Amino acid sequence: MTESKWSEVDRYLSEQLIPEANELAWLLDANTSAGLPAIDVTSHFAKLLALLIRVSGAQRILEIGTLGGFSGVWMARAMPSTGLLVTLESESKHAEVAINNFKRDGVDDRVEIRLGPALDSLAQLIAEKAAPFDFVFVDADKANNPGYLDLVLQLTHPGSVLFFDNMVRGGEVIESESLDENIRGIRETHAMVGKDDRLLATAIQTVGTKGYDGFLLALVVK
Ligand code: SAH
Ligand code: DHB
Ligand code: MG
Repeated sequence: MTESKWSEVDRYLSEQLIPEANELAWLLDANTSAGLPAIDVTSHFAKLLALLIRVSGAQRILEIGTLGGFSGVWMARAMPSTGLLVTLESESKHAEVAINNFKRDGVDDRVEIRLGPALDSLAQLIAEKAAPFDFVFVDADKANNPGYLDLVLQLTHPGSVLFFDNMVRGGEVIESESLDENIRGIRETHAMVGKDDRLLATAIQTVGTKGYDGFLLALVVK
């Protein structure tokens, strides 16, 4: 099985099931024009996030890693119109592109971007006693995932859903001696989640146009 086959299958599945992908092509074009890296989730993943938001009835959504707002637009569209997406981004250029994209899509009234290192923004949300979030999508620097998990658990409630992207990394996740800080962060996150009796979780390996990776899905149970 080759990566080109994975991409062909992704294209087929998108054509069959995800009409929104065509409708949102302008957003990925805007990101490319602005020079952003093409590390957004695929439409298949974005729609999974949207479906999880609908299934769980999430109204308050937290995203760590905005980039150009591709996943953000999908999640904002999936919330009820009374919902709020708070999305954290450290690169001002990415945030600027995302703000424009949120405006162009018409979801900007339901989205709040916080610029700065996400660990600081999360600490700030905790200090502000922000209302708990129902759904959290973690998709930024993987080295900081353990710290994000710690803080996110202070910003959620039993019933909240956590989704971590890029948790397999081409299989590198099993390299216990890896010196790559991203792999170390991912491994520590799996271990932390597995040991935490507040969480019920699984992780799934995936292939597609963005290669071989995987996600972790957790439910806060207490
Ligand atoms: N969720 C986006 C993709 C995010 S890519 C989508 O699917 O459309 C990861 C993003 O995290 C990048 O924009 C990067 O600038 C941002 N990032 C990296 N380190 C960060 C940090 N410490 N704090 C906040 N954002 C960070
Ligand atoms: C990278 C980040 C991501 O969130 C992703 O899905 C793929 C790649 C990266 O930083 O390289
Ligand atoms: Mg990602």
